[in-house]
Amino acid sequence: MPKTFFITTAIYYTNSPPHVGHAYEKVLADVIARYRRLKGEKVFFLTGVDQHGQKVQQSAARAGVPPAEFVKDITQKFIDLGKKLDVQYDEWAETTSDRHKKVVQGILQRLFDAGQIYKDKQAGYYSVRQEQFLTDKERGPDGEFGPEWGQVDFREEENYYFKLSQHRDWLLSYLDNRKDAVIPGFRQTELRNAVEKLIGDLCISRPKSRLDWGIELPFDKDFVTYVWFDALTNYISFADYDASHSSLNSQSSTFRDRWPALHIIGKDILVPAHGIYWLIMLHAIGFPDEAMPQLLVHGWWNLGGAKMSKSAGNIIDPFILAEKYGADALRYYLMSDIATGQDADFSEERLVERYNVDLANDLGNLLNRVITMINRYRDGGLSYVEKIAGILPFAVSIEQQIRSFKEEFEGGPPQYPNIEPFHVELGVRAARAISLRCNRFVDDVEPWKLAKSTLNTDVLRLNAALYALADTIRVLAILISPVVPQAAHGIFDQLNWKMELSGKEERFSLADAEWGKLPDGHVVGKPVPLFPRIEPDQI
Ligand code: ME8
Ligand code: MG
Repeated sequence: MPKTFFITTAIYYTNSPPHVGHAYEKVLADVIARYRRLKGEKVFFLTGVDQHGQKVQQSAARAGVPPAEFVKDITQKFIDLGKKLDVQYDEWAETTSDRHKKVVQGILQRLFDAGQIYKDKQAGYYSVRQEQFLTDKERGPDGEFGPEWGQVDFREEENYYFKLSQHRDWLLSYLDNRKDAVIPGFRQTELRNAVEKLIGDLCISRPKSRLDWGIELPFDKDFVTYVWFDALTNYISFADYDASHSSLNSQSSTFRDRWPALHIIGKDILVPAHGIYWLIMLHAIGFPDEAMPQLLVHGWWNLGGAKMSKSAGNIIDPFILAEKYGADALRYYLMSDIATGQDADFSEERLVERYNVDLANDLGNLLNRVITMINRYRDGGLSYVEKIAGILPFAVSIEQQIRSFKEEFEGGPPQYPNIEPFHVELGVRAARAISLRCNRFVDDVEPWKLAKSTLNTDVLRLNAALYALADTIRVLAILISPVVPQAAHGIFDQLNWKMELSGKEERFSLADAEWGKLPDGHVVGKPVPLFPRIEPDQI
């Protein structure tokens, strides 16, 4: 049986509400997940929230509520964001859940028993914001710790350490043997350079005297687990991993069917969290190299070239955007105006422009004019045309566009070996090229002229044009369904292409993205504007 495709996002800190960066990451994962479902694959999409740690404890204290209560509120906002943006996940991770705690504690105990965790005393400067001790290499040229570390205190305390550096050589050899451990490749290089410099072990505990909002260490109740060790474990604890079995082969068939995962994360949490801590944690608890997860590292949405941050007060609220423009418009913008792996600048004007040009003008207008013409010239009825490719000059290019759309989503087009997979923006562009081509075809064929002619050849030509356009729009709806699911349903509805008619459980399937599926005599629905233009005074 084919294995399940397992995809995750980072889990989001519950110290502040979601921003547009979180929305982007969720939608990116959702689009990839939906695309794989479209291919008929079984998908397990996990996302959720990171509820423990000092940041959360501090935010709760500032708000004057217990952390558990504080976290509940923000967690709900992340759940609402998923709903608002039509993000279809299969499992929701909350790190305060018992199920998760059990796995974290189970792993800690195993590593402790195996001598991978030891107790030691440390004195030094500690960054409250980054929740870590700082060393001299974190000092700036002026010898001070920069503002990125926030408040820095001198501390002396006993803690537990995980023997991270012992696994450095393993990690280097793993990265050398697997070229696509991290996508894009330049991020793998960045990670490898960081691993080269790796020294020292990882402090995995915090004394309860200063942080109690965390998972208690199973072997010392005076300590809680460091938030990253806790959070990273979510990727297996919510996928049915059982910490009491050290061998992967003795895990449940559910877990084995899912694992390994594709982790979608932002560039800030590759080094050291996912690229070093997580890979080494997995290795240390017995995961073989072929069971290492793949890391897809995306860039950041900035604002006017600057980082969005709460302190700068330039956070973009995804709820307001989705409310104003709709989920599809926001999804489309986030998937088309950034190149996976690179940064981009967020601009509401660009969002509106892409909406008006790509969605309202190109796609919406195409659908509208085609449905209108079929109603006007043929009472809504289509006549099946056997060899579209032979009749229509654009046939070949459309078929190529469909192919290139698939390639962008899957593994990069073979003709461009330098392009890496998951360039969703190129897939979106390939789909858009189809609507542009169809619109041009309508202008070339001039159906309004053909409709006035009684010549047999003109009647046939109009039938062929209308059928080809309707069927191409059906294909287009399938192709864009991962990105703009509501619009895809809208197109199918206007085509009157019901689920019963397609005889499938899922309304959209990539196998149907080929010509000739609309039957002879099929009657389309009535035109309804899919993406009404946004006028400047509405912004
Ligand atoms: O780091 N543009 O949580 P987080 C794009 N809890 N992506 C952005 C972004 C932006 N402007 N800002 C943040 C954490 N992100 C940890 C993760 S995983 C086991 C624990 C992305 O809420 C960021 O890169 O600060 C990260 O992938 C995700 O949002 C969560 O950030
Ligand atoms: Mg962050």
